[in-house]
Amino acid sequence: MIISIASDHAGFEEKQLLVGYLREQGHEVLDRGPANDDRVDYPDFAVLVAKDVTSGAAERGVLVCGTGIGMAVAANKVDGIRAANVTSPEFAALAREHNDANIVTVSGRFVTDEVNRAIVKAFLETDFGGGRHAGRVEKIMALEKE
Ligand code: RB5
Repeated sequence: MIISIASDHAGFEEKQLLVGYLREQGHEVLDRGPANDDRVDYPDFAVLVAKDVTSGAAERGVLVCGTGIGMAVAANKVDGIRAANVTSPEFAALAREHNDANIVTVSGRFVTDEVNRAIVKAFLETDFGGGRHAGRVEKIMALEKE
């Protein structure tokens, strides 16, 4: 799978670890930066991954900041994005199964690398459930048209 990934300074170290993990797992990784842990603004990086996903350059996105919250808020401003900020693999699976999330955002400061790897694995391996969830996701996406 082609995965676009980015972080801010607070998520930089964890982003580097996840890039390595994803490549080990055989994924093609588009690392949208930053290239070091100098202070940056997370919306500038959220938009790069969001646009990779909406353009089809990447199938899924991963964003890392201190909490993951700012990245999710920013990414969700881009039409077509359903970004979920999660702190457990169970929620990552549910974000895919129920919400058809196309970006997962994680915390570089409050969640361990081991848990973040499990989150990313669940996010990439879980399919959207469809059925009763499909109409709800359609209603979410219709909000962009209002
Ligand atoms: C940076 O200090 C921090 O605000 C950012 O990484 C993120 O946690 C925002 O949601």
